[in-house]
Amino acid sequence: MEKTNGFLNALIRRRTRYALTNKSTIPDEEIIRTVQTSVRYAPSAFNSQGTRAVVLLGPRHAQFWRLTLDALRRVVPADKFAPTEKKITSFAAAYGTVLFFEDWTTVQSLQEKFPAYRDNFPLWAYQANVMAELAVWTAFNEAGLGASLQHYNPLVDEAVQKAFGVPYAWKMIAQMPFGVPYAPAEEKSFLPLDERVKVLGQ
Ligand SMILES: Cc1cc2nc3c(=O)[nH]c(=O)nc-3n(C[C@H](O)[C@H](O)[C@H](O)COP(=O)(O)O)c2cc1C
Repeated sequence: MEKTNGFLNALIRRRTRYALTNKSTIPDEEIIRTVQTSVRYAPSAFNSQGTRAVVLLGPRHAQFWRLTLDALRRVVPADKFAPTEKKITSFAAAYGTVLFFEDWTTVQSLQEKFPAYRDNFPLWAYQANVMAELAVWTAFNEAGLGASLQHYNPLVDEAVQKAFGVPYAWKMIAQMPFGVPYAPAEEKSFLPLDERVKVLGQ
């Protein structure tokens, strides 16, 4: 069914990968370039370019998952902490993590400039962010790096600002741990396409 072009094939191949090693198939420079290219070329409302990313490697990647675990320890009951710890430990075992943000000063200045769209700009900021996330996720996968998408914000926002010098105006949207996978992706089911895509006029 899905005989298509290179981009769509890459989209089909992208999956959530949780079983990750602390190895990479590509040099750090290529990881960084992948994130830079994705952030630069993903579209944004009014070409506002509010998406920001922080690439955490080596000790900084470990630091992020340590501070996430610390933050969770404060809110998850002790008797329920074991599965949480196991999950965070699995992310920490990966090669690196990309943190995705939106610069909220961009949202606010657009709201001032175009008051008619005031309520839309925060939504569009999230939508633009996810476009960059998908680009990184898909490109990583094509390079042999598995990744998953996590959301420990806003719980860890303050600790992240402090630990990594992230501007206060950068609103964290997602975290993407990545590395060489050591197990296949989990089974995935699909809803019938004719319930999801309607074609009219053909
Ligand atoms: C907006 C969005 C939020 C998501 N949040 C999480 C998350 O917090 N934790 C997680 O493990 N996966 C998260 N996922 C991954 C989805 O669970 C996953 O993409 C979905 O089950 C389909 O599987 P696939 O990625 O292998 O195609 C998120 C995905 C999207 C698009």
